[in-house]
Amino acid sequence: MFPSSSSSSPIVYSLTLFLSLLFLFLFSPRIIPHGNRHRERLISVQDELDDLRLFREAVSTATARGGSSKISHLGTINPKPKIAFLFLTNSDLVFAPLWQRFFESSNDDLFNVYVHADPATKIATPEWLIKANFIPAKATARASPTLISAARRLMANAIIDDPFNMYFALVSQHCIPLHSFKFVYTSLLGNPSSAHKAFLTQGSLKSYIEILSEAPFLHNRYVARGDGSLLPEIPFDKFRVGSQFFVLAKRHALLVLRERKLWRKFKVPCLDLDSCYPEEHYFPTFLSIADPKGSSHYTLTIVNWTDSVDGHPHTYHSPEISPDLIHMLRKSNTSSSYSYFFARKFSPDCLKPLMEIADDVIFRD
Ligand SMILES: *[C@@H]1O[C@H](CO)[C@@H](O)[C@H](O)[C@H]1NC(C)=O
Ligand SMILES: *[C@@H]1O[C@H](CO)[C@@H](O)[C@H](O)[C@H]1NC(C)=O
Repeated sequence: MFPSSSSSSPIVYSLTLFLSLLFLFLFSPRIIPHGNRHRERLISVQDELDDLRLFREAVSTATARGGSSKISHLGTINPKPKIAFLFLTNSDLVFAPLWQRFFESSNDDLFNVYVHADPATKIATPEWLIKANFIPAKATARASPTLISAARRLMANAIIDDPFNMYFALVSQHCIPLHSFKFVYTSLLGNPSSAHKAFLTQGSLKSYIEILSEAPFLHNRYVARGDGSLLPEIPFDKFRVGSQFFVLAKRHALLVLRERKLWRKFKVPCLDLDSCYPEEHYFPTFLSIADPKGSSHYTLTIVNWTDSVDGHPHTYHSPEISPDLIHMLRKSNTSSSYSYFFARKFSPDCLKPLMEIADDVIFRD
């Protein structure tokens, strides 16, 4: 830091020491956490190792099974690709009856359901949610990288569990479906009778994830862990933002599970908690670097940000539920060429009015 010369004096050494400490303090929040709030948010070494092992297993399982060519030799008669629904939750799955109806609208066995439920909250197990598969979960918290970990854990478990999972749809307990399962499946993978072709074309299946290069307070979000904390991997012009909820093709889910470099940066706790939404940055930033043409850049999950408060979107309540609302929510804002599949955020009292219009409105498409 300082040229050594014969004029070096104790003052220079003290100054060097002081500057070094200052540097550590400013740029190494992991070494010197700023208070307990941040220390709590660190992901423990054990959790990190557990995850690494899990992700490696998922990647090697997928690799060992081989790609499209080997999948037809697995012994399953007429295999079809499936959609894995990944529920990320820290409270009861109050809309399970609606999702149940959604899944029942499909006769074929074309989906799987995985749930990551925060172990800190006691969640009533909806045994009637078809095939709900509760994966080993760890604590999650807002404004922390734990939501990235939970999403990756869900994808890894789904990949290990069923080689036919081709798409991975992340939803929360506040999400609802806006269409029938058949509509969603056909839009993603084509008509079920010919969907097996997707195994051959999986190298080109698109992911549906929002990737935006402009957003309010984007720079605050970029420096939420301190100035330069994402460098050199992510200069500001490569930093992206997008909805937490996505539908990833398997090839991209595997890329995300292999990813280490950006994770090392994004797992660092934020200094500015008001600008800390790691899960809305990590996936869009990584995929826009790794495969910008492979993603839609828009989300299939609509959310109403009008009059949002403290980073929370508008939450719908039962008086607002109507067939018109469903039709309005389906319509994409940016282009008429696609329809939203899912919507959030809904309060538990919406279940009853939603069930009342489920068959005649939501699942009629
Ligand atoms: C639709 O687009 C307009 C203009 O771009 C924007 O102000 C509005 O918030 C959007 N609505 C939704 C529900 O995204
Ligand atoms: C979005 O939320 C606002 C209130 O925050 C509400 O007035 C508006 O109707 C909502 N838009 C839609 C499409 O539901």
